[in-house]
Amino acid sequence: MDTETTIKTSMKSAGDPADPCAMVIFGASGDLTKRKLIPALYNLAKENLLAKDFALIGFSRDPMSSEEWRDKLTKDAQKFATTKIDQELWDWFIRRVYYMSGDFGDPASYQKLKGLLADADKEHGTKRNYFYYLAVAPGFFGKVVHQLGDAGLVAQGDGAWRRVIIEKPFGRDLDSAKALNADIQGVLEEHQIYRIDHYLGKETVQNILAFRFSNGIFEPIWNRRYIDHIQITASETVGVEQRGGYYETSGTLRDMIPNHLFQLMTLTAMEPPVSFDANVLRDEQAKILKAVQPMHEEDVLTRAIRGQYGPGKGMEPYRAEPNVSPTSRTETYVGLKVFIDNWRWADVPFYIRSGKRMAQRVTEIVIQFKRPPLLLFRKTAVEKLEPNRLILHLQPDEGISLSFGAKVPGPIVKLGDVNMSFNYEDYFNATPQTGYERLIYDCMLGDATLFQRSDMVEASWRIVAPILDVWGALEPRRFPNYAAGSWGPEEADEMLTKDNRHWINPPALIHDTHAAPAGA
Ligand code: BG6
Repeated sequence: MDTETTIKTSMKSAGDPADPCAMVIFGASGDLTKRKLIPALYNLAKENLLAKDFALIGFSRDPMSSEEWRDKLTKDAQKFATTKIDQELWDWFIRRVYYMSGDFGDPASYQKLKGLLADADKEHGTKRNYFYYLAVAPGFFGKVVHQLGDAGLVAQGDGAWRRVIIEKPFGRDLDSAKALNADIQGVLEEHQIYRIDHYLGKETVQNILAFRFSNGIFEPIWNRRYIDHIQITASETVGVEQRGGYYETSGTLRDMIPNHLFQLMTLTAMEPPVSFDANVLRDEQAKILKAVQPMHEEDVLTRAIRGQYGPGKGMEPYRAEPNVSPTSRTETYVGLKVFIDNWRWADVPFYIRSGKRMAQRVTEIVIQFKRPPLLLFRKTAVEKLEPNRLILHLQPDEGISLSFGAKVPGPIVKLGDVNMSFNYEDYFNATPQTGYERLIYDCMLGDATLFQRSDMVEASWRIVAPILDVWGALEPRRFPNYAAGSWGPEEADEMLTKDNRHWINPPALIHDTHAAPAGA
């Protein structure tokens, strides 16, 4: 039995409060902590999923006392909590919160941390179970892990567990991701590493699995025989905001595609796993990533479209954003056509796009079915007969809709398209969440299902590697090439037009249950 198996046998299952433990947030004074992590921990406490024996230690460079940090968190909570704060519960929570100012590269800081963790064990009964959340710049990932290792803070034993959550971006290309994996695996076992992708914390993203694998009617048609193509969109109306400096080194391809968008692709395309065991499920996702047809240079030119927003609708162009070069060649839009070479998906294009400053904020997956083989309804113009589309709306609308043809009432047989939709809000009274609750809770339970394994991260970078190479070598021909507030560059539209298809723009609204009849 390896250490993790021994530990797992004493573990609780989902629904129970997590194990007693201490959490350490590196980069505690940053945005992520106040906006997401603290509200998520509070929500977990509220749902009784946090152990009564819990402690939190914030670690950052900023000089601050624990008292000052508690005051700051209390103020921030008023702004960022997703539910009304219950004073008694908040007081309970904040009593177990500590802060230390330290240098991520200084061994003395880790000795101080060690002391605080030992105090937490005594004071709060955290049983030497620790997990570390690395909300720091990627350059520090390796450094922090090594320091933790040197201080003896990640070694497991005597029933105590130690885990590390690592934020994105995990590497900036295949080589750096491999190097980072090798570096941290020198200190940690793979099962101690939780590479986070916040998309997997979203209810609607998790629901892709529930939808596909708890309903018998979709699986038989979920393949190349019935599906014409799939579109995956994550568009944002915001620009790069204050993150110009980061974006200039990243661009949309690195920022969104190998992580968030590929998560959506693998969940949509994977084979049914034989169980929801973390490795079984991730094996299926990894198989999809490994089955993606590699792009050659000429494929990149036709199947990978990049864009950068210019001015539009009163908005500044990307090149005028703070910390962005006035001659920047960084892409703020990516459109891809990807093929998955397996029996289920051969020849079915997956069109994937993501961009900043687009016309609407929307994340959704459109599954477009093939048209019927025979046109029986002659009174309806062929181009007006829309194919069936199943749309998984992930955000901001959350739901599922299905469009199909129906007879327009009247003496003549004419068809119209109607939309049948399910909206989460109408059925489930869920309290708003940050999206981090489930991920933090799962880490405390030792369930890595929703986290990225090293082979998945590397397979994702391998897919985009040729694009990074070609785009790095070839200047974009005409940047900026789309107006802020539009649906992206013309080239991306043309990529689909050439295939006799089009982006579903604007995406069908899920509340729109009475679409205009097409034949009318
Ligand atoms: C982040 C990217 O990972 O995801 C951001 O760095 C992007 O650029 C964000 O805006 C989108 O996340 P969400 O949850 O708003 O869709």
